Amino acid sequence: MAYRLGSSLVILPLWHYKKEGIQSSSSECKDLVYEVKLCVEDGKCQLKLNVCVDPDMPPSDSSEQWLCDVILHKMAKWMEEPPLRKPNISSLQLLPIDAYNDLYQHLKEKYGRELVEKWPERTDPQKFVFEDVAIATYLLVTWERERVDLGLEKKQSFADLGCGNGLLVHILRQEGHPGFGIDVRKRNIWDMYGDSIDLREAPIIPSDTNLFSNTDWLIGNHSDELTPWIPVMAARSSYNTRFFVLPCCHHDFDSKFSGKNAGESQYRTYLDFIKTVCEVCGFDVLEDALRIPSTKRICLIGKSRSYTTSEEAMVDQRITEYIKSRCKNMVDNHCPIQLTGHSHGTPLDSDNEHAVSVNRTGDGQLQTTNTTDKLQTTNTTDKAWALSFQPRAKVEKVRNCTQLPHDLTSEVVQRVFDAVLNAEDAVLMCTEYGRNWCKGGVVPLSSIVSLLGSDILKRLKSECGGVQTLLRNHHNIFQVSGGAVRLRYDDQDGHNLQYNVPPRKKQKIKQKDLKQKPVKTKLCWFHDNHPDGCPKTREHCQFAHGAEDLNKGSQHEQN
Ligand SMILES: C[S@@+](CC[C@H](N)C(=O)[O-])C[C@H]1O[C@@H](n2cnc3c(N)ncnc32)[C@H](O)[C@@H]1O
Ligand SMILES: [Zn+2]
Repeated sequence: MAYRLGSSLVILPLWHYKKEGIQSSSSECKDLVYEVKLCVEDGKCQLKLNVCVDPDMPPSDSSEQWLCDVILHKMAKWMEEPPLRKPNISSLQLLPIDAYNDLYQHLKEKYGRELVEKWPERTDPQKFVFEDVAIATYLLVTWERERVDLGLEKKQSFADLGCGNGLLVHILRQEGHPGFGIDVRKRNIWDMYGDSIDLREAPIIPSDTNLFSNTDWLIGNHSDELTPWIPVMAARSSYNTRFFVLPCCHHDFDSKFSGKNAGESQYRTYLDFIKTVCEVCGFDVLEDALRIPSTKRICLIGKSRSYTTSEEAMVDQRITEYIKSRCKNMVDNHCPIQLTGHSHGTPLDSDNEHAVSVNRTGDGQLQTTNTTDKLQTTNTTDKAWALSFQPRAKVEKVRNCTQLPHDLTSEVVQRVFDAVLNAEDAVLMCTEYGRNWCKGGVVPLSSIVSLLGSDILKRLKSECGGVQTLLRNHHNIFQVSGGAVRLRYDDQDGHNLQYNVPPRKKQKIKQKDLKQKPVKTKLCWFHDNHPDGCPKTREHCQFAHGAEDLNKGSQHEQN
C-alpha cells in the first residue's frame, strides 16, 4: 500500500498469505514502513529513502539492506525509463456494442444465475461464470457477423484449447455451435454438463499429428503455454482456420517469456510478441479489449491471411525458422508444406461432427481420411514441432511445502525452534493465563539460512519455494515478519503480542470464553514440544492438549 505525501511516497508493505489453501489474504506489515522522497537540488534529482523504525521492535538489518540494495536501485532505473505507453485501446471496438449488450444480458440471464448456484469447483463462480459469459458473447457476435459477411449458412465450429472448466464450450454448444474442448486436466464440473458436451482430457502437443483441419475457429482463452502455438496450429491446420487468443501468463514456445520493452509494460511486451507470432504465421491480426473482470483482457484475432494459397510453402518455412530461432531445441519434426495441388483448406460449412481429416504424410503430401475423431492427441513429444516443448503434467506440482517428506519438515521446524528458543535475546514471560513461558528471541532469516545448510535449502527451494514458505505454513509455531522469525503467541483476543513489551497484568478469564469451546482437530505443537508447554490453558488453546482433548471423530494430526 502506498500513500502520496507531497513529493514523498510512504509505503506500507502487505504480507500475502493463503487462507485454507484457496483464497489469498493480506495484512499490513507495520514493522517495515518506509518513505521514498524525490529531491531536486542544483538541477540534480535524488531519491532519498527513510525507513521508519519502531523503537519497540528489534532492528532488522536484512530488510534495510534489501531496501537499499534492491528497491532503491529499481526505482532509480524505472525513473530513467520513458513513461509507460498507456494501452489506449477501448473495449469492444470490433463489434456493434448494442448487439453485444443485448446478447450479454440474455446469456447472463440464461446461464449466469443457475451456474453460479450449481458451481462444484473450489474457484470463485462469480468470476468464472460472468467472464465466460462475456467471452462467449464476444465470440457469438463475431461469428454472427462473419456469417453475414461471408454468406455462411452453418454455425462455425470451434476447438477450445486448454478449456479448463469447459464452461465456454458449454455455452457455445448450447448456442448451436459444434465444437469441443481439450484440457490436460479434467475438472469436476465436466460431469455436470451431461453427455451432450464434448470435453477431452489430453495433453496438446503442437505437431503434425495434432492439426485441427476441420475446425473453423481455434480458441485460446488464457491458454498459458499454448498461447504462442495457437496461431501456428491455426496456420498449419488449414488455410481457412481462424483463431481467437486471450493471452494471460507469459509463455514463449518452450519456456517462460522474459523481456520487457523500454517504456512498455511486460504485458504489452508480451502481447506484441504474440502479435508478431500471428504476423509471421501470415495472419492479418486484429486487437480488441474484452469487457471481463480479468485484468488480462486484450484479445488477438486472426480471421484472414496476408498471403495467397500459392505462398503457403514460403509462409510455412518462415514459421519453422521463427520457432527455431526462439526454441532451445531444433524443430525437426514438421513436414514442410509443399505445393501439391491439394488444398488443405476445409470448407467452412464442413460437418465438424463427421469430419474429414486432412493430414500430411511423411513425404509432405496431404492425405485425406474420413474420421469422426477430429484430433488424435499423442502423449509423446517425439513428433512435436519443438522438441523442447513439454506439456504440463496432469497433476500440477504443489510447491507449498505440503509435499515435503515429514522427517525433513520436522527437522527444519525443530532446528529453527531451537535457534529461536535459545537466541541471545530470549525472554521469559508470564502469559495472561498465568504461565511462565519462554517466548524465545528474534532470529534474522539470514541466520536461519546459514543454520540449515545448502543441501536442505536446495530441497526446500525446489519443493516448496523456500524456508520462508515452510515457516509461514507453520504459522501456529512461528511468526515471520521484517525478515526475522519469532515464536507465535496470540493473546486471548487473537492479537499477536508485541515483543519487548512488559507482560500484561494477569487478566480475569471471561466465563463466556470458557463456554465457547473451540473445535479441536489438531494437536498443539507447543504442548507437545516446547519445554514450558503451551502458553495457553487447555480451554483457551485452539489446538488439542493431548489426544483426549481432540474432538471425537477427528484425526490425530500433529499441528
Ligand atoms: C489458465 S487456465 C485457463 C482455463 C480456461 N481456458 C479458462 O479460461 O478458464 C490454462 C489451461 O490450459 C491447460 N493447458 C495448458 N497447457 C496444456 C496442454 N499442453 N495441453 C492441454 N491443456 C493445457 C491447463 O490445464 C489449464 O486448464
Ligand atoms: Zn496449546
